[in-house]
Amino acid sequence: MKIAVACDHGGYRLKNVLMEEMVKQGYEVIDFGTYSEESCDYPDFAAKAAKAVASGDCDKGVVVCGTGIGVSITANKVKGIRCALVHDVFSAKATRAHNDTNMLAMGQRVIGEGLALEILNAWLHTDYEGGRHDARIEKMMKLERE
Ligand code: RB5
Repeated sequence: MKIAVACDHGGYRLKNVLMEEMVKQGYEVIDFGTYSEESCDYPDFAAKAAKAVASGDCDKGVVVCGTGIGVSITANKVKGIRCALVHDVFSAKATRAHNDTNMLAMGQRVIGEGLALEILNAWLHTDYEGGRHDARIEKMMKLERE
């Protein structure tokens, strides 16, 4: 399983924590930057990770900024991406089970590392339930084709 990751300066430290956890679990992690805490523009990096997921080069993506909002909005502009901004464990599981999200966004300035790791693990290890959710996802994705 290949995971694309990206952040801006506001998410740099949390991205490293999340990457370390995923590598420890045996995931192949592709880091699309940024690579320091120097101020930068989050769309530049979130877009690269989202495009890697949308193209199939990566299976899933995890993006981080200060709030998680900028990177999630950016990722959701890329066709094929369903990115959820999540700051609690219940939503992390629900968005995989019901929305089949292929990207996860979090805000380094919003939650601590412990909770972020729990969210990451809940999201990574929850399967999509399918069934009644298929038609709802299809209705969402159809909007991209209109
Ligand atoms: C950077 O200061 C901050 O605006 C960014 O990390 C993010 O929170 C944007 O949504």
